[in-house]
Amino acid sequence: MNTTPSDTRSGKDSSGISFTALYTGAVWHRHGLSNDLLATDQGRWLYHLMTPFEAGSKALIGGNIRTFLLQRHLIIDHLIEQALNRGVTQVLEIACGMSPRGIRLHDKHPLLHMVEADLPDMATRKAASLLVAGRLGDNHQVIPIDILAESGEQSLEVVVKRAFDNNKPMVVVTEGLTSYFSLPVITEFWRRLARVMQQRPGSVYLSESYLMPEHPLLRGTLKSLGGLLGAVTRSDVSFHFLNDQQAAEQFTTCGFPSVAVHNPVDFYGRLPIPESRNDPMVRVIEVWS
Ligand SMILES: C[S@@+](CC[C@H](N)C(=O)[O-])C[C@H]1O[C@@H](n2cnc3c(N)ncnc32)[C@H](O)[C@@H]1O
Repeated sequence: MNTTPSDTRSGKDSSGISFTALYTGAVWHRHGLSNDLLATDQGRWLYHLMTPFEAGSKALIGGNIRTFLLQRHLIIDHLIEQALNRGVTQVLEIACGMSPRGIRLHDKHPLLHMVEADLPDMATRKAASLLVAGRLGDNHQVIPIDILAESGEQSLEVVVKRAFDNNKPMVVVTEGLTSYFSLPVITEFWRRLARVMQQRPGSVYLSESYLMPEHPLLRGTLKSLGGLLGAVTRSDVSFHFLNDQQAAEQFTTCGFPSVAVHNPVDFYGRLPIPESRNDPMVRVIEVWS
């Protein structure tokens, strides 16, 4: 690892989260959204390991991790397409992991300037997979970033300045990242991102958030599961908001003038997403500079 061994609680190193990208990568692959280049043995193994738990949650509560992963992934894809239709030509996917989005977007929009970014080890791993297949070039890059770095080559500000045309708007995506950090830590990142986007009017940020359920039993169970995931990933797995309004207010406070909080329910029948039996836990956040 290129980072100091500590954890996100000290605000310095979040590399313990990285292996979760192998699981999400396997989910994208299993659902026909990915490419064999991004399939990993560890991801396949995690997928099998999680299957009984996923089946149990689906039967008990009418949804599971795979349900909300697919909901958030396809809604984010849809909102990216909308931004591209409005004329945005550059996309930064932070915490790209083994997400196939970069490949899919680049295949569909060859002129798009697509930059995928992740912690150095994950970025190196992904770049190696894509390079072998001749997938990378000036218009599609994978580079290191660390959202916790306040300065230096891997900081958000330097990465954006170096990788993009700074006179044009951009789409920034973080998928599966923010819930691994406490609200104060991720708020600092959001504030910095708002300043970066303010300098590039018309930019859009897309992310997801999980609402803390109201039902006490479900809330207790999720808190315990979050604690377990936090221990395994050495992170502060957190449910940041109780409802849509709280989420919207937080982004406004961070300096994003326009915020939309999307409930997957609004996309049922319009996008090929799985439906939850109850109100979905996940929301997709869309903010504009
Ligand atoms: C759950 S995975 C999500 C991967 C991908 N976005 C997806 O949805 O399949 C979390 C990702 O966050 C990355 N990550 C963790 N800490 C980070 C940081 N400080 N800066 C940038 N990326 C980070 C990990 O390396 C990992 O790839």
